[in-house]
This record gives sequence, C-alpha cells and structure tokens, in this order.
Amino acid sequence: MKIGWIGLGVMGYPMAGHLARAGHSVTVFNRTPSKARDWVEEYGGRQAASPAEATIGADIFLSCVGADEDLREATIGPDGAFSELSEGGCFVDCTTASADVARELSHLLNDKSCHYLDAPVSGGQAGAESGQLSVMVGGEIAAFEIVQPVLEVFARKVVRIGDVGSGQTAKMVNQLCIAGVVQGLAEGMALAERAGLDIPAVMEAIAEGAAGSWQMSNRWKTMQAGEYEFGFAVDWMRKDLSIALKEVARLGGTAPVGTLIDQFYADVQRAGGGRLDTSSLLKRLR
Ligand SMILES: NC(=O)c1ccc[n+]([C@@H]2O[C@H](COP(=O)([O-])OP(=O)(O)OC[C@H]3O[C@@H](n4cnc5c(N)ncnc54)[C@H](OP(=O)(O)O)[C@@H]3O)[C@@H](O)[C@H]2O)c1
Repeated sequence: MKIGWIGLGVMGYPMAGHLARAGHSVTVFNRTPSKARDWVEEYGGRQAASPAEATIGADIFLSCVGADEDLREATIGPDGAFSELSEGGCFVDCTTASADVARELSHLLNDKSCHYLDAPVSGGQAGAESGQLSVMVGGEIAAFEIVQPVLEVFARKVVRIGDVGSGQTAKMVNQLCIAGVVQGLAEGMALAERAGLDIPAVMEAIAEGAAGSWQMSNRWKTMQAGEYEFGFAVDWMRKDLSIALKEVARLGGTAPVGTLIDQFYADVQRAGGGRLDTSSLLKRLR
C-alpha cells in the first residue's frame, strides 16, 4: 500500500519503519526534518516537505505525534494532511490524544467521505521497536477492516473498541491502570534498597508472582541503575493523566490514586525530568 506517515519520535520512527520493512511504500513527514532524513536513510521511502505532501496518493495515512495541538496542526493546520486526503481515504491516528479531538477531526473528514480512526498504542518504546504493540481502535467497522492488517505489522494485538473516540477512551483506562503500578513498583524498590536487599534476587522471586507486571519486568533493571533517559516521557504521562482525569470527572467518577500520582509526576517535571521515562518516580523516593 501507499502509506503517508507523520511523526517520527520514540514511537513513530520504529512503527513507520516496520511498515517500510513489510514492503509498504511509505512517505514520511516530521516537524524536525533531520529525523525524517535519518528515517529515509535507514528504511528507504520518501521524505515529504509537509503533511499535505505526504498524503498525496496515499491509501492510508497514519500519525503518531505528541498531543491534541500537534495533531490539529498536522491535520488541519497550514499544509495539513486533510487538505490532500483523497475521497474514501483512511486517516489513522496513533497519538495518545483526547477523545474529543478524535470526534472533532472525524466530523471534518465525514464531509469529505473519508474515514477517521483513533488508534492509540500501548507497549512502550520496546514494543514499538519489536513490533509488539497493543492498539485500541475507535472507528467504523468497514474502515477498521481495511487498516487492521496494516496495524498488525507493528502490533501483536489490534482491537476495535467501538465508535470514533472509544480507542482514546480505552487508552485513558490503560493509563490509569499503569499509574498506580509504577508508583507501587517504585515504593517496593525503595524499600528493598533501604533494607539492603539484593534487588535482582528480590525481582527474580516476585516478578513471576502476583506482584509481577510489565513495568516490573521491563523497568526494574534501569530503575536500579538510575537510568531514565529513554522510554515514555513524564510530560506525555501528565498529558495522558490530564485527559483521563477530565474524562473521569465528566462522567461523575473519581480516580484518587491517578490524581495523586499525577502530582508526583509534577514533582519530577519541576526537578527538570519532563523527558525522563515514567519509571523515574523512584527518583522522588531515593
Ligand atoms: N513513548 C512511549 O513509550 C509511548 C507509548 C505509548 C504511547 N505514546 C504516545 O505516542 C505519542 C508519541 O510519543 P513519542 O514518545 O513518540 O513522542 P516523541 O518522541 O516526542 O515524538 C513525537 C514526534 O511527533 C513529531 N511532531 C509533533 N508535532 C508534529 C507536527 N505538527 N508535524 C509533524 N511532526 C510532529 C515530533 O517532531 P519533533 O521531532 O520536531 O519533536 C516528534 O518527532 C504520544 O502521544 C505519546 O503519549 C508514547
């Protein structure tokens, strides 16, 4: 297929790479052009000068940018992707964004007889690099069936949740589930350190038991080493928690643990750690 792609960050760079390696013809655009140059050098394909140019002739167009405002800029901003999307085309957004922006952009595309799918991902940098992400999708069934095989190139699980916006709402659920787990892991490791326990032995003993988690298996070693310059940025987690907590409040619920941990991440940001991986919660406790 001819595929257009916007956003070549920690996630988008390897995700688009898998599509190129699978034989799709991929044209990429990134706000900082040097990343697109590096990508083309590594994977072939073409570099576009604007989102609109990357869209010309594409069967499917995908994006994985930072947040709502980045997505709006890439789609309906100057030279945005929507200006060139051809009739019947599919736009798939893998950014973690609000459900509102998904519905807003979807309405604009309906007028052009194009399809919009929100398809945020989970699985982190490692999942993107190994092509093992989980994708939660909102959008029409017919459009989902067209894009599913493309998403499966970089994912081990692709699930349609419901209508447009429901993929983003499922991602909010995902982020609230993660927040407490990371803090629990940080508190457990802080105790193990203070008690002078052998951390690898503790992790070996508990990782396969009831306390085991993706965060524990994938993060304890880097947490122990104090390495956080990779992965899922604290700035993005705060953006995600803000979206999720607003949705919880809108629906009349409460999320006390998510609310508290959002403040812990604010501490990490104030200490200059906005781009550190979310496992940096341990830094606050050391
Ligand atoms: N990292 C993770 O573990 C992870 C896991 C699941 C979901 N996510 C979500 O996936 C999304 C991307 O995360 P990431 O970690 O890949 O972020 P990132 O490293 O900051 O990458 C975002 C990329 O989007 C580009 N971009 C932003 N606005 C743009 C625009 N208007 N036009 C073109 N390119 C634009 C940025 O360009 P520049 O090069 O100019 O900055 C950057 O390359 C976020 O919504 C995040 O919440 C991340």
